[in-house]
Amino acid sequence: MGKITYQKSKQPHPREMRLIFRNIDREGWDPSLKTFLADGGYKELKKALKMTPGEVTDEVKKSGLRGRGGAGFPTGVKWGFIPPNNQKPVYLICNCDESEPGTFKDRYIVHQDPHQLIEGMVISCYAVGAKVAYIYIREEFPQAAEIVEQAIEEARKGGFLGKNIQGSKFDCEFYVHRGAGAYICGEETGLIESLEGKRPYPRIKPPYFPAAMGLYMAPTIVNNVETLCHVKHIIGMSGEDYAKIGTPRNTGTRILCVSGDVQKPGYYEIEVGKMTMGELLNDLCGGPKEDRSFKAVIPGGSSAKILRCSDKFNVSCPPDTEKREINFEEIPLDFDTMAACGSMAGSGGVIVIDDSRKMSWVLNNINEFYAHESCGQCTPCREGSTWMKKITDRLVAGKATPSDIETLESVAYQIDGRTICAFGEACAWPVEAIVDKFRDELMAETSEENEALPHNSEEEAQRRYLSSV
Ligand SMILES: Cc1cc2nc3c(=O)[nH]c(=O)nc-3n(C[C@H](O)[C@H](O)[C@H](O)COP(=O)(O)O)c2cc1C
Ligand code: SF4
Repeated sequence: MGKITYQKSKQPHPREMRLIFRNIDREGWDPSLKTFLADGGYKELKKALKMTPGEVTDEVKKSGLRGRGGAGFPTGVKWGFIPPNNQKPVYLICNCDESEPGTFKDRYIVHQDPHQLIEGMVISCYAVGAKVAYIYIREEFPQAAEIVEQAIEEARKGGFLGKNIQGSKFDCEFYVHRGAGAYICGEETGLIESLEGKRPYPRIKPPYFPAAMGLYMAPTIVNNVETLCHVKHIIGMSGEDYAKIGTPRNTGTRILCVSGDVQKPGYYEIEVGKMTMGELLNDLCGGPKEDRSFKAVIPGGSSAKILRCSDKFNVSCPPDTEKREINFEEIPLDFDTMAACGSMAGSGGVIVIDDSRKMSWVLNNINEFYAHESCGQCTPCREGSTWMKKITDRLVAGKATPSDIETLESVAYQIDGRTICAFGEACAWPVEAIVDKFRDELMAETSEENEALPHNSEEEAQRRYLSSV
């Protein structure tokens, strides 16, 4: 196993609640089975194997766990979508592609606590009836792949994987599959295509919902690394007790990855909905950098719509049902309130932007990523993501015209909702939100006089096309 340098004994902030990250950067901790067992590891698997698969699924349903990969879909409900009279094999896939910009939580789990993931996965396989599971690891985590391979071998030797696990007559095998380095491999159907050895072109849903028609057209459950780890703790403490953590409908803990313009960027595990944006940014992350103030935050990975720090929102904050006006810092960090505020909690990647940044630069940076990562299968996404990048290239170069901003917005709305997979929205939403909320700032960087600048023929063709639709 390759050597890894840990940031030793990073003390959790007193407002954190460490469940999944309990062992991350913990003094004396290492990823070996010996250390995991000495800490009570695999106890929850033994408990689950004494239950029926249906009972395990019921606990996950009762827990209210929602997927931590981006969409926040209830995990137990997803498991329940496997057709009842299914005769085909069932597969479980752990999505460890972690490709959403701003997100860096799954990597800590696979590097430092792989047995937590394996235990959560074996319990999940038992619940959904999967005898084969895959861990799809992004290409950029080569060391994680080695660590997980070694942990799988240890788990097999320890009787926690393979044939007749812990004498239960349940057999289960795991395989590590390394990605080839594309963001779209994180999208579950693109991931499945890639696992089948093909180009990762996402499949259209319906009909290709993985729980019904997934890997090799068999029922397949795709869950995020963090989601699968939660399953272990749900079995340990019961679904009912897990549901008491966090807030109703937004239960448990989740790991937030804070990057950008704060004093203390990093990971923070919090009770979902029990902390506000202001508490996260000011108390845990130490506030803005010296002589700076917060300007905007992208709360759930680069695909999430940006929030302006001066904004007010009229929303109900659970457990209250009445709506009231709150400011940006009062937003509770949960799935539903974030959606009501016009954005999404997404993958938990909180990207902070202060008043030193130009929004044209921020947007151009985001556009560059999406233009590079589009799989190219659908025309609006393939062409539109590149057009948007070209326009913001002109904007940051001081060569854009006011009509460019209108064109930018129009291209985004023509992608949104018109593509095979949610990448379309992922690249359109940042543009829609930044143009909507920072229009004056973007316009101030344009000039009518730039109309006279020469455009290359491709841009001219785009202009003619857009003015004709
Ligand atoms: C473009 C795109 C990229 C995605 N990347 C990831 C990723 O890197 N990791 C992940 O867990 N989910 C990612 N997702 C979400 C997955 O498609 C899927 O919903 C998720 O793995 C389900 O796990 P969960 O139910 O545990 O959240 C992505 C979705 C899209 C549209
Ligand atoms: S939306 Fe984009 S990434 Fe998704 S299938 Fe279409 S072209 Fe590919």
